[in-house]
Amino acid sequence: MFKSMAIEWTGDTLKLIDQRKMPLEEIWVECRDHVETAHAIKDMVVRGAPAIGVSAAFGYVLGFSKAPKNSKVELIEYMKEVKRTLASSRPTAVNLFWALDRMEKRFEEAIEKNFDETLKILEKEALEIANEDLEMNKQMGKNGLKLFEDKKDVTLLTHCNAGALATSGYGTALGVIRALKEAGKNVKVFVDETRPYLQGARLTAWELVKSSIEAVLICDNMAGWVMKQGWVDAIIVGADRIAANGDVANKIGTYSLAVLAKKHGIPFYVAAPYSTIDLSTADGSKIPIEERNHEEVTHIMGKRIAPEGVKVFNPAFDVTDNELITAIITEKGVITQPYSENLKKLFER
Ligand code: MRU
Repeated sequence: MFKSMAIEWTGDTLKLIDQRKMPLEEIWVECRDHVETAHAIKDMVVRGAPAIGVSAAFGYVLGFSKAPKNSKVELIEYMKEVKRTLASSRPTAVNLFWALDRMEKRFEEAIEKNFDETLKILEKEALEIANEDLEMNKQMGKNGLKLFEDKKDVTLLTHCNAGALATSGYGTALGVIRALKEAGKNVKVFVDETRPYLQGARLTAWELVKSSIEAVLICDNMAGWVMKQGWVDAIIVGADRIAANGDVANKIGTYSLAVLAKKHGIPFYVAAPYSTIDLSTADGSKIPIEERNHEEVTHIMGKRIAPEGVKVFNPAFDVTDNELITAIITEKGVITQPYSENLKKLFER
């Protein structure tokens, strides 16, 4: 069994807190098979790169639990379809594909075993993916502390939600923020609201308030002005995919923050586990950027705010060039330039 702020595995179903409705309502959605899990990921009931990966792993187990038992050939074809369905839910966060590859490997290794044994093996692997993620976040938090050793008062600015809701718990960027608070620092966080989906206003602000960490909510277009006042010690964000050269795909708006941080001489940190690093993608230009429903822009919380007939562009992510990133905080340590070399070395440790 596994239960976090966002994800619960009961043994035969996957329950997800409906992040579309938070913080106004705290409702759990139940997924009984891989198709329902894929829909939940696509519709953003669950979101955030590591949480998507964890959910997909449990979705794969649910898919297997409903598998046809007639022949091995049929089973193999069916499990390929399970993987395809889950993999087609969202394109940018590499944790999704990483978790599914890991699950598929276990399935292939277990192919000679009977149904119940394979089911147990797959469930164990999904639970390991979930538990590992939590451990990595805590370690990332500890590693991130080193960047703020000389400071008692720390003011950070964050974007989107890279917290407990986006992971198995604790969070990546928010994990570092939690670790700073736990280390006794006076922490204050400027939270970008993160249009269009408002993950900052709805989710990060909720998590910080719940954890008694001082949070100041700002609209995205206020970040530059806040930096200009000299109020921000560092920017810290999560990531959806880190390419081999250190380019980082993260929530749309991250790139603008990195450019502004450079202009104001503010360190720009990315916190992410190894499951977010994709050495098979050479640089950011090769990362697929999801484009989402136009209604996310023309509407706020279901209410139209723009005229009918207006054209819309709604990329969900952008890519921040590696030269704008001061350091990448991982569970294996803090990495700086040259990222091409240092990210590769990380996988050799
Ligand atoms: O579209 P979302 O809400 O899934 O985007 C989430 C982000 O961009 C997060 O910053 C990223 O996944 C890191 S979560 C630890």
